[in-house]
Amino acid sequence: MSKICVIGSCSMDLVVTSDIRPKAGETVLGTAFKTVPGGKGANQAVAASRLGANVYMVGKVGDDSYGKAIVDNLQANGVNTEYMETVTYKESGTAHIVLAEGDNSIVVIKGANDDISPDYAKKAIAELPSIDIVLIQQEIPEETVEEVCRYCRARHIPVMLNPAPARPLKAATIEDAAYVTPNEHEASILFPDRTKEEALADYPGKLFITEGKKGVRYSDGAAERLVPAFPVEAIDTTGAGDTFNAAFAVALAEGQDIEQALLFANRAASLSVQKFGAQGGMPSREEVEELLS
Ligand code: RIB
Repeated sequence: MSKICVIGSCSMDLVVTSDIRPKAGETVLGTAFKTVPGGKGANQAVAASRLGANVYMVGKVGDDSYGKAIVDNLQANGVNTEYMETVTYKESGTAHIVLAEGDNSIVVIKGANDDISPDYAKKAIAELPSIDIVLIQQEIPEETVEEVCRYCRARHIPVMLNPAPARPLKAATIEDAAYVTPNEHEASILFPDRTKEEALADYPGKLFITEGKKGVRYSDGAAERLVPAFPVEAIDTTGAGDTFNAAFAVALAEGQDIEQALLFANRAASLSVQKFGAQGGMPSREEVEELLS
């Protein structure tokens, strides 16, 4: 069984559904409000666990009802929470999501997620022997992402860096990560002076740009390749990127080659968008394999 360590955010998603997305200064009447577990880190941990990996979540929550519900949910999904900490001086992270007109808009309040220090993350990695891959995102401090990538590279532990939400990254951090998985917007922030084609050619086998319904693009060193997404009717795309990253990491940790792993990840992501909530549609291993066969 592959062993995955996720370092990242654990939040509660406060989701409003509305037919119309309000413009600045406008008030509209919505159709529903739901509270569901989210946060890019926790989403990736839950997705990887449902896909059969042995997953350790490294993160922080506040000493509040959301924090307890977040940790309970991780445990209910088989994620090891030994390296989760509850802090008293900050509230749990929250994501304020509007689902409207077939897409989402999200405002994240980092709360306790902002307290995941480089030392806290490195201590957990050091104590977890034989980790196959580390997954990390950007709802936690920038220096923690940089330091984890550097620390892991020195110890030959591959890191999959999902640079979401978008912010510029140091070239050294991109070098230190084994895999970098931006969407098109995030890629344009990471490589403002390069075209997408140039950036892909600069990082063969490392940079994977997700293009939503089109699929995922990367360079194999000789040519650019597109692994197409599976066409499905999407109900809620929240968490699709997290499912993709988790599934890609699980497949690579199991020794699948890049094309196979991307196919697996695209299948998992296509299943994830067919139900409400970031984690609502995240598939089991059996569901993905049934679809692949
Ligand atoms: O990637 C989706 C996640 O982003 C949501 O669950 C929300 O928590 C936001 O952080």
